[in-house]
Amino acid sequence: MTHALPEYAELFNKRGRDYHEAMLRFPLARAEEFLILLRHADIRARQTVCDYPSGGGYLEGFLTVPVDLHLLETSKVFLSCVAEHSQAKRLFVENGHIPMSDSSVDRFVSLAGLHHIIDKGPLFREVYRCLKPQGIFVIADVRVGSSVDIFLNQFVHQHSEEGHEGLFLNEQTRDELQSSGYRISYIQPIEYHWVFPSIADMTLYCRLMFGISKATDAQIEHAVESILGTHQKDGSYYLNWELLFIVANKA
Ligand SMILES: C[S@@+](CC[C@H](N)C(=O)[O-])C[C@H]1O[C@@H](n2cnc3c(N)ncnc32)[C@H](O)[C@@H]1O
Repeated sequence: MTHALPEYAELFNKRGRDYHEAMLRFPLARAEEFLILLRHADIRARQTVCDYPSGGGYLEGFLTVPVDLHLLETSKVFLSCVAEHSQAKRLFVENGHIPMSDSSVDRFVSLAGLHHIIDKGPLFREVYRCLKPQGIFVIADVRVGSSVDIFLNQFVHQHSEEGHEGLFLNEQTRDELQSSGYRISYIQPIEYHWVFPSIADMTLYCRLMFGISKATDAQIEHAVESILGTHQKDGSYYLNWELLFIVANKA
């Protein structure tokens, strides 16, 4: 059983549609993030791949080889957002149980979702159970103390209806993975950008994605500029983002 902040699954049932709208309006804004994740997962054609939590299945659009993709979610709203033409299987995750059989998964990826789970150990063991020998688990999430941590747990926390209290990745995460049986082959923060056509688009994206209902556009712009940093180049607007990327291997 995975211990989670109970209100978070509920929160995404409320907020999921806005998050999804942000992703639909600007499908390439986070392209670099998805591509870095996939590069670390080293996915080969016809492998069985799980994405948890998948949101509305955004990873699928960045895959370059055909795979047996499973989108796993705790929010039924997100599962209902998955594109009709998606080839992926949609699976609802309840009580931390991953509905995959033992040693059946080649690659397991988790982007920006583990920070909703208080005790990550049971999930790490559950993923380990599902992975085939030599299977790879790639995690990308916010690093404790990073500017993204400050943006989410301070600015978004203060300016959204539901607040944001992410339980981000720290030194303990590596220990928990190792004591769950994994060998860690890579663990590094990576800096990259979210890219938008204009500053107004960036503001709207952040507002929708994070449920920032209690700040003006100018306040969002100021927070993004001062906490995360931005620059403009060739007519596009670049927002600095960073996640900690971990590659954990099943022996
Ligand atoms: C920031 S979104 C990330 C979605 C997708 N991976 C992406 O990068 O767009 C956070 C995700 O965490 C999921 N979530 C919320 N509470 C959770 C929990 N207790 N356990 C696992 N996932 C949870 C949400 O349903 C949502 O899909």
